[in-house]
Amino acid sequence: MPRTIVVTSALPYANGPIHIGHLVEYLQTDIWVRFQKACGHRCYYFCADDTHGTPIMISARAAGVRPEELIERTHGEHKADFDRFGVEFDNYYTTHSPENRELSELIFNRLNAAGSIAKRDIQQTYCENDRMALPDRYVRGTCPRCGAPDQYGDSCERCGATYQPTDLVDPRCANCGTPPVLQTSEHYFFKLADYEQQLRTLIASGHTQKSVANKLDEWFKAGLRDWDISRDGPYFGFKIPGEDNKYFYVWLDAPIGYLASAKNYCERHGLDFDRLWNSPDNELYHFIGKDIMYFHALFFPAMLMGSGFKTANKLFVHGFLTINGEKMSKSRGTFIKASTFARHLDPEFLRYYYAGKLTDTVEDIDLGIEDFINRTNADLVGKYANLASRSGPMLTKKLDGRLGHLDAEGRQLVEKLAAAKGQIIRDYEGLNYAAVVRTISALADEANRYVERKEPWTTIKTDAETTRATLTAVLNAVKVLAIYLKPILPAFAGKVERFLNVGALGFADVEQTLEDHEISSFERLFERIDEEQVKTMIEESKETQAAKPAAAEPAAKAAASFKPEVTIDDFAKLDLRIAKVVSAEPVEGADKLLRFVVDVGGGQRTVMAGIAKAYQPEQLVGRLVVFFANLKPRQMKFGLSEGMILACGPGGKDVFLLSPDSGAQAGQPVS
Ligand code: MSP
Ligand code: ZN
Repeated sequence: MPRTIVVTSALPYANGPIHIGHLVEYLQTDIWVRFQKACGHRCYYFCADDTHGTPIMISARAAGVRPEELIERTHGEHKADFDRFGVEFDNYYTTHSPENRELSELIFNRLNAAGSIAKRDIQQTYCENDRMALPDRYVRGTCPRCGAPDQYGDSCERCGATYQPTDLVDPRCANCGTPPVLQTSEHYFFKLADYEQQLRTLIASGHTQKSVANKLDEWFKAGLRDWDISRDGPYFGFKIPGEDNKYFYVWLDAPIGYLASAKNYCERHGLDFDRLWNSPDNELYHFIGKDIMYFHALFFPAMLMGSGFKTANKLFVHGFLTINGEKMSKSRGTFIKASTFARHLDPEFLRYYYAGKLTDTVEDIDLGIEDFINRTNADLVGKYANLASRSGPMLTKKLDGRLGHLDAEGRQLVEKLAAAKGQIIRDYEGLNYAAVVRTISALADEANRYVERKEPWTTIKTDAETTRATLTAVLNAVKVLAIYLKPILPAFAGKVERFLNVGALGFADVEQTLEDHEISSFERLFERIDEEQVKTMIEESKETQAAKPAAAEPAAKAAASFKPEVTIDDFAKLDLRIAKVVSAEPVEGADKLLRFVVDVGGGQRTVMAGIAKAYQPEQLVGRLVVFFANLKPRQMKFGLSEGMILACGPGGKDVFLLSPDSGAQAGQPVS
């Protein structure tokens, strides 16, 4: 009976690139989904970008774009990375979608009606300069315990102390450096403890791995606390129904994004979403990393229970990637982006290597660089590609490309390979890919030994038909191995299908031998890895990371060095006002400068500004700018400059003036 299976991976944040750490999860899931499909089941793989929250809002500001633009750009990049690695979603959607808004409101309203939502005042840190509430990570200061400078508002990286942002000595907004203030605000809470019994029952039913269940047990013992699900604006997210300036916390709508991605798919494919998700006949599985267990084993299932949605059959939790036994590191060049990897190496190398390491446990998995090179060359090149390249080309060149019949010995080999099917299926199903890979590689050894014993390169000189029987056995072995490997190595399997001149292979084809059959021309399957390629990739990862701060942390980086403090009285001395550009022209001999005449409201000034790389002078005539009007006039090499035009951005082409449609008037003070 074909099963109907819905599968999800955690939704990657939309403010950073996909890296090889993420890929542990997407490859683990993709292999499982491809395996289910290869068994003939109806399996749907849903995912999306996780687009909401403060970090994304701040990244967008730092990049000078709207969050919508940022998340759209990232969506394209993420999709391209997943395509490169053969991660084949049935729908890769976004949490910033109408379906997600609708479902988030629906679930919230149902929880509210069920009495699972409470409202109460909290004290939050607030930056008066940025006019926003600051999440703990956006407050930095000196650790109250050990005195380490520049620590986050929730914990110290040096001594490990955990505390409230207000406990920091000399706390600062990580975005702008202003000391935050405390502010009272009413927040919404989800009463998680109301679901304790149901959650305990769920976990006891084998919902997730034993070690995860043990961890959850600790959390149950510590007591389940209410969960703050609202954030004050400005916030990039969904407004809470009936509120003006309150939004759902990103972690409320993010897992609902699984449902939204499924719903969007169903709507586009004429399927009934409610049935697909909720029918007890269908299976539902989530794959996640161990860092987000609390959300997926407690908050999310409780939310679903409280709003009448089905919870998953199983939550599969995996460990973290280490490289050469250590955490991924930007300075060591082991923080490797998916796109960088794919530029230097065949993505299937990573699929195979991870598969060889993955089990059903929450243990971290290690990518040893040497081991990776050796394993790839030994197995992919030395075993699988070698087997095919020793038999395929000979058959096409010397024996008209025609498979003959299996002789007794050949049949024995092929049957031996086929006999492993049951075990391989069980290991795939149970997420024991390491065992799958061990079994397949042992079978490939068997087939290679067969070739060595039969020496087709010798027999071809004297006995064409015996050689044909040998090659028929070998190519049948290649076919069976390709079927077994297909969930892990889809591109390799595709090439084998093409050169064996057969359609898409699945597990049902294992027992069907290929005899008396014409094959097509052989394609090269894998190239050896040269150590240099890997070195270059690591060097390149060092550079890109050092050159620009990761998108997720521009705010923290920008806060690293501050000028000496000034008081508000100092600031009040500045005459900042709106000015209108009357004329703008290039300055001869200075390729960065433009000479402006601006109307400052009741007078005109001449001023030089270094923005010629970002704007054409004629674009600027009539444009409003923020103007520093009482700056002491300066005699410059190219003439007198009476004030300063304010703009922001990293420089060069990226310099931004006041937004053109701000509706301000020349002479108006800037507030
Ligand atoms: N946006 C949240 C998930 C929301 S799900 C409703 C998030 N995003 S993430 O981009 O940080 O991580 C996405 C997934 O990748 C998570 O399951 C996470 O555990 C996994 N990994 C991220 N880095 C990883 C490693 N270095 N190693 C293994 N998995 C890692 O969390
Ligand atoms: Zn601030």
